[in-house]
Amino acid sequence: MMAERLRLGVNIDHVATVRNARGGALPDPVRAALLAIAAGADGITAHLREDRRHIRDTDMARLSGELTKPLNFEMAATDEMIALAERFRPHAACLVPEKREERTTEGGLDVVGQQAALGPRIARLQAAGCRVSLFIEPDAAPIAMAAKLGAPVVELHTGSWCHAVADGDGAKAEAEFRRLKHGAERAAELGLEVHAGHGLDFDTARKLAGVPDFAEFNIGHFLIGEAIFVGLEAAIRQMRKAMDEGRASA
Ligand code: PXP
Repeated sequence: MMAERLRLGVNIDHVATVRNARGGALPDPVRAALLAIAAGADGITAHLREDRRHIRDTDMARLSGELTKPLNFEMAATDEMIALAERFRPHAACLVPEKREERTTEGGLDVVGQQAALGPRIARLQAAGCRVSLFIEPDAAPIAMAAKLGAPVVELHTGSWCHAVADGDGAKAEAEFRRLKHGAERAAELGLEVHAGHGLDFDTARKLAGVPDFAEFNIGHFLIGEAIFVGLEAAIRQMRKAMDEGRASA
């Protein structure tokens, strides 16, 4: 069986981080999103955090109106964010855990502990026409709960694997890779569409693309950092190539 083409979602949060460092309008994250699409991104992801540290409400409004490819609205499962999703009606809504003191999204959503609260929130997002995805650890219990809650998509957290690779901890990296592979297989068996994200770079994206159950990667920090050296378009084209090479080996 031929594995399907893997989609690349580009997260533009950190273009807004740089903009906000100076308080003005530049660099413009919407311009980055349009350039990312021109360079081959299949969609754009933006995380409107509760503290608005990077993406702002006005960015979400412009992204909703100006993009020619699907917008994935990454958000905490709060009433405030759900009301904004109902207003902007993005193609997809990815529910993530959020803590004010964290530097970035640490760990997956506790779908088992929060199942009672999540059920009606997922239903509200689906009623607004959003394809809901749950950002979870690649373990059997959250995957089974995501399916039970009726979310069509899970995004498996690749952070532990990417950190182990970056730390040169071969044994941990191998164990974490197996966890992701088995998680993706299990989720696909349950009929879920499987995405992945957090900390991916060219090498980790190429390797993970070899697991045919993944349909989409969402990648931000590395691409925006790489863009400083080679430009955003070249960074995205190189990521596309790495993912295609990995997928060809599946
Ligand atoms: N997917 C989700 C759900 C995330 O929270 C993040 C980080 O905002 C990413 C993907 C992208 O991670 P990174 O910026 O490390 O590529």
